[in-house]
Amino acid sequence: MSKAVKIISLAFVVAIGILAQTPQTPEPPKQPLPFSHKLHVGQGLKCQGCHTNPEPGEAMTFPATAKCMACHEDTAAEKPAIKKLTAFHQSKESVPWVRIYQLPDFVWFSHRVHLEAGAKCDRCHGAVAEREALWKEKPITMESCMNCHRETNASNACNYCHESH
Ligand code: HEC
Ligand code: HEC
Ligand code: HEC
Ligand code: HEC
Ligand code: HEC
Repeated sequence: MSKAVKIISLAFVVAIGILAQTPQTPEPPKQPLPFSHKLHVGQGLKCQGCHTNPEPGEAMTFPATAKCMACHEDTAAEKPAIKKLTAFHQSKESVPWVRIYQLPDFVWFSHRVHLEAGAKCDRCHGAVAEREALWKEKPITMESCMNCHRETNASNACNYCHESH
């Protein structure tokens, strides 16, 4: 190999290395309330205490305001964010959280199937318990799904993910 070719290929390898290491930019969307997972998981609350997985098991759902008010009737009740939370609760509105992980309609996905296969929340959503605010720090692209299906010997047939079950 000529020196120039070596330098170009080295530059290429370095560039790929940098691209592979650069995390997706941590830019949490602006949420209606400054909800912190770090603070709340630190209170001993469990993921599935707030995110239940009702039949047929596809969604993890968002907690009802009643779940929050169990503490916030009293806790920090004077803070503006909690007054806003209380107003949602009293008018029986759910909090209009900005969605972070969302697949297009033509992709089939079931949380329950993956949880039963042993996948942990962190694998697809990152270190949620350590985050003040969430952003899409893990990809949910077709490639990311297929990589794990390859590793775990799950099917990568097109209709496995693109047909309802
Ligand atoms: C006290 C209730 C509560 C607990 C406990 C909780 N969450 Fe949440 N979670 C929320 C609320 C409220 C939101 C919406 C606000 C936000 O995105 O931060 C949310 C949003 C999320 C989202 C983003 C969903 C989307 O697509 O918009 C993920 C992923 C998530 N939680 C995972 C977890 C995991 C993993 C744990 C455990 C480590 C956990 N949550 C514990 C209340 C909770
Ligand atoms: C195999 C990957 C994977 C695992 C494991 C996983 N999730 Fe998800 N999660 C997703 C995908 C993909 C979506 C978007 C689903 C959609 O739009 O249909 C999502 C969406 C969500 C949402 C938004 C509401 C919903 O259901 O669409 C919450 C909340 C959530 N996940 C919490 C969790 C929690 C808590 C755990 C662990 C108990 C977990 N997830 C484990 C991939 C995963
Ligand atoms: C187990 C009790 C508990 C539950 C349940 C709970 N929280 Fe909290 N929350 C706390 C505590 C403790 C604090 C810290 C209060 C402080 O700083 O004085 C807090 C702080 C907050 C804050 C920050 C207030 C501020 O401006 O400093 C927000 C916003 C919040 N919680 C929203 C929620 C939402 C939304 C839910 C339901 C999804 C919820 N909480 C459920 C205990 C709880
Ligand atoms: C942690 C590795 C992992 C990731 C990431 C993952 N999967 Fe899977 N998936 C599996 C395994 C393992 C199975 C097989 C479970 C079984 O057969 O018991 C499976 C099964 C499925 C099924 C079959 C469900 C059914 O009803 O039988 C679908 C559809 C699917 N995955 C879609 C997706 C999509 C879409 C994504 C990306 C958003 C994804 N998966 C990400 C490991 C993963
Ligand atoms: C393991 C699950 C999985 C399998 C298997 C899979 N896909 Fe996908 N596919 C996805 C997900 C997830 C998306 C959405 C990606 C996104 O939003 O970034 C997607 C998106 C697409 C799109 C839209 C692309 C775009 O740019 O919007 C097409 C077309 C597609 N898939 C075709 C296929 C074909 C053809 C096969 C078989 C060779 C296949 N898929 C197999 C999960 C899968």
